[in-house]
Order: sequence, then structure tokens, then C-alpha cells
Amino acid sequence: MKLADAIYKRRSVRTYTQQQVQREEVLALIDAAVQAPSAMNQQAWAFAVIQDRHVLMSWSERIRRDLLAHSDHFKMSDEVKAMIAEPGFCVFYDAGTLILIGTRFPERTQLAEVDASCAAQNLMLAAYDRDIATCPIGFAVPWLNQPSVKMEIGLPSDYRVVLPVIAGYQRAPQPPVVRRPAEILMWQR
Ligand SMILES: Cc1cc2nc3c(=O)[nH]c(=O)nc-3n(C[C@H](O)[C@H](O)[C@H](O)COP(=O)(O)O)c2cc1C
Repeated sequence: MKLADAIYKRRSVRTYTQQQVQREEVLALIDAAVQAPSAMNQQAWAFAVIQDRHVLMSWSERIRRDLLAHSDHFKMSDEVKAMIAEPGFCVFYDAGTLILIGTRFPERTQLAEVDASCAAQNLMLAAYDRDIATCPIGFAVPWLNQPSVKMEIGLPSDYRVVLPVIAGYQRAPQPPVVRRPAEILMWQR
């Protein structure tokens, strides 16, 4: 596959089959993630993987309730609020795999979260190359970063989730998502 294909054709996928992503595939995605650039080569990223559908369903319900309780704080549009309020809405779209991409090492670099974001993009492009569908799930970030939640689910207290990404096999092709032309504010020559 040409890299340009992955860059231009990767989509955030929101409908998944029941097929689970194999452990080796997940490890390959994480290996691609850590090939990303990082500030001062500090590689300040760390990952966690959840492949238990029951756990994901129960987290989704708790995230949904947390988002609805704080919808003003999270600046959600009425449309998004209505979608989340829909009973049975799964913030993980019934995907079987959730990969948390985050950082534990804020002391190493002030740009640790940027490192994690670069890793996330690598992971999603590598997934596309392997016919694995993904979608970043920003909705889950505030809940996952609550100290009590991190303790409950076994994440270190100094871990900061930057971007959770679901992964699985898509049910149907995704339509293109049009981009606005890039705003180039300045070009000095
Ligand atoms: C930081 C971030 C958070 C996102 N959070 C969500 C989310 O919680 N739920 C969701 O369905 N999509 C989420 N997305 C996906 C965006 O909606 C998607 O990237 C955008 O609509 C463009 O579509 P594309 O990824 O198919 O090109 C997120 C994307 C990013 C970069």
C-alpha cells in the first residue's frame, strides 16, 4: 500500500464486526506507534490494551453518564448530547479492542502529550495498512483520567491518557470525509 493511500483513505470507523483483533496484530500496531517522532527522542508514550467486550460495555455506560452529567463543561453540541443520551449508545461502537495511548513521563519532556499524539496517528495508519479499522475516542479521555478510575482499572496514577483508539474490522465502507482547505496564516520568503 502506498502511504498516500493510508493518509487519504483512512477513516474513523463507527461500525464493527464481532471479529477480534489478534494479539500479534495489536502488538504490531503498537510497534508502528513507537516509530513516531518524539520530542528530544524521549519516547514518552505508554500503552494499555483492553479486549474484554464486557468491560468495554460497562465503561461505555459509565462514560456516557459522566459525559451527560458534565455536558456543559465538555462543550458538547445539542446533537452530540442527544447521540450520547440515546439508550444503548456505545462510545466504543461495539469494537472489541481499545488501545489507550498516553504518557507517564511528563518530567522527561513538556511535549509528552504530543509524542503520544504522533504515536496515535502512526498506529491508525498502520492499522489501515493491515485492514484494521480504528476510531479515536476523545469522549473517553476525561473519565479515564479520573484518579479513582485509574486506580480501579489498574492504570498507574501518573499515567495520562491522551487518546484512546478503538480497533476492529469494519462492517461497511466509510464515505469520504471532506476537509476544508488548509488555512495557511503566514508564508515568509
Ligand atoms: C482528538 C480526537 C478525538 C476524537 N474523538 C472522537 C470520539 O469520541 N468519537 C468519535 O466517534 N470520533 C472521534 N474522533 C474522530 C473524529 O470525529 C474524526 O477524526 C473526524 O470526524 C474526521 O473523520 P475521519 O477521521 O474519518 O477523517 C476524534 C478525533 C480526534 C482527533
